[in-house]
Amino acid sequence: MKIRKAIIPAAGYGTRFLPATKSMPKEMLPIIDKPTIQYIVEEAVKSGITDILIITNSQKSSIENYFDRSWELEGFLKHSGKEKELELVKSISNIANLYSVRQKEQKGLGHAILCAKSFVGDEPFAVLLGDDIVDNDRDPAISQLIRAYEKTNSSVVGVQRVPFYDLNKYGIIDPVDKTNTSLVEIKGMVEKPQENAPSNYAVLGRYILTPKIFELLETQEPGVGGEIQLTDAIRRLTEFEKVYACEFSGTRYDVGTKRGFLEATVAFALKRDDLKDDMEDIIIDRVANRKMRK
Ligand code: UTP
Repeated sequence: MKIRKAIIPAAGYGTRFLPATKSMPKEMLPIIDKPTIQYIVEEAVKSGITDILIITNSQKSSIENYFDRSWELEGFLKHSGKEKELELVKSISNIANLYSVRQKEQKGLGHAILCAKSFVGDEPFAVLLGDDIVDNDRDPAISQLIRAYEKTNSSVVGVQRVPFYDLNKYGIIDPVDKTNTSLVEIKGMVEKPQENAPSNYAVLGRYILTPKIFELLETQEPGVGGEIQLTDAIRRLTEFEKVYACEFSGTRYDVGTKRGFLEATVAFALKRDDLKDDMEDIIIDRVANRKMRK
């Protein structure tokens, strides 16, 4: 079955980015001049997704507003003859069929996904985390996972290798065959292992899931951090269906962390014709100044 729908969970509190996230969703933090969530929506659209559900909460209406028409602003831009800006603003509201639902209590990522049950119905769907940007212009990460789904007809989690000291930050897969990770069946997954991680491949914000996951999420007990973990439900899914891991290519930025946000800002500026020279100058000046002060 074709993957048409995607879920973007964006209802977390974003405590690692306080105080900015006190009144501003972290998904709206701009990487230069575009909110994080727009990069993610664009990745889904480029991959053939037509319907996107964003999981929000009562503090995140700025996300819904951003993808809506802005009649006042459009009127102003039209009146001022700013045609280019007008087209830009209008295009954002036509990007895809966008929907939103509120997660009423922040009980974890698994619980956020469960909020999408009636939107998804009985078909496989994509999940793209609202604070994970994967940069790959030629072949978006979720497109790579969709192809893996089409090959296996099974759920697929997107993985990349992470350093040993970071294994306790992620969901880590337990592959059936440890020698071939480009597309490999998994027999389990562990959320944030403190020791004895089953591999060094972490699930990094991209998934294709079958609707069976909802049945499991409905009965999922809280796990690490007292949250209903998607990882735990996927581990149970392997008892009923095959689940695969696909090592995707692309540079992934966890923009929910300050370091990841900085890295993404620098990398995207260096990719832009209108900004790369400025960004290079800034970096060179700063590094030279720092060396002189030492
Ligand atoms: P994170 O753990 O990275 O997000 O969840 P967080 O809880 O917002 O951030 P910190 O840890 O406090 O800094 C991964 C994704 O799942 C969403 C988040 O919005 C993020 O996109 N999420 C998390 C929900 O939608 N609901 C939740 O209850 C928890």
